[in-house]
Amino acid sequence: ALNLKGRHLLTLKDFTPQEIQYLLDLAKDLKAKKRLGIKDKSLEGKNICLLFQKTSTRTRCAFEVAALDEGAHVTFLGANDSQMGKKESLEDTAKVLGRYYDGLEYRGFKQEVVELLAEHAGVPVWNGLTDLYHPTQILADLLTIMEHVDKPLNKVKFAYLGDARNNMGNSLMIGAAKMGMDFRAVAPKELFPTEDLVSEMKELSNETGAKITLTEDIAEGVKDADVIYTDVWVSMGEEEQFEERIKQLSPYQVNMDMIKKTNNPNVIFMHCLPAFHDTETVVGKEIAEKFGIKEMEVTDEVFRSKHSVVFDEAENRMHTIKAVMVATL
Ligand code: CP
Ligand code: NVA
Repeated sequence: ALNLKGRHLLTLKDFTPQEIQYLLDLAKDLKAKKRLGIKDKSLEGKNICLLFQKTSTRTRCAFEVAALDEGAHVTFLGANDSQMGKKESLEDTAKVLGRYYDGLEYRGFKQEVVELLAEHAGVPVWNGLTDLYHPTQILADLLTIMEHVDKPLNKVKFAYLGDARNNMGNSLMIGAAKMGMDFRAVAPKELFPTEDLVSEMKELSNETGAKITLTEDIAEGVKDADVIYTDVWVSMGEEEQFEERIKQLSPYQVNMDMIKKTNNPNVIFMHCLPAFHDTETVVGKEIAEKFGIKEMEVTDEVFRSKHSVVFDEAENRMHTIKAVMVATL
């Protein structure tokens, strides 16, 4: 059997397809158990620290609930709640927290930070989103596809629309390459993933049978897709880029016309959330006023349609994060 004890989760690049499948199967099992009211409490007596330099709903709450379901205790530290990075170096902070806790989650800006924490903590460190990767999200996404698409992962045609060089674009391409999927990044050239990452993933695809396509052509990109996926056009920390991104990405909005272009009546729509599909939010209202648009990466119609599995996907954050903690602790 596979043993992931003591491992960090910094990017899915570090995990084999078998290890990813193991985490997905474990998550499925933990999800079924939760439904039956069975709690193994396999993390009884463990302590988990959650470090968030950026805001979060799903990732934070998923870690908290998953930890508590398994009997572990959590400490949450927001951006202004510790000495980290201000009065104390990352290295020293990691060394201290590693003395108290059995595992650390980190969400922040640079990937190098989560890597530095992992180097010095002496306990497993899990990446809860950086500029480059969002690996726990991808596990939830893969589980959701397993549940909603009636095919093995290596037969799934997956189209990602929008900012294909952000944390989601990068990580989805990695997850798809690992699991042998037909992955299409559909975006303007400037927002394709970096050449380094693409060539690394194409090389990996030779082993896994995956197919990686980068295209600006929407019809080609979404043809026969089983999954249409998008993310916000402007990620946390890039708020000055709204105007440019709206210009670049408007043609790549996921709307009913695009859903029809897949030619697949059973295509599912996915989004890591939060999504900009209406003006019910503070930011939504600001954007509507400033740029005269009411929806961005996805229309409200698609978001609320029968194709949309976004809330199953959000739920799966909890089950997959639980699997990561149970497997690595
Ligand atoms: N998808 C996701 O990571 O959501 P949060 O920002 O709410 O954690
Ligand atoms: N790309 C988004 C993902 C949010 C879960 C961001 O980094 O803000």
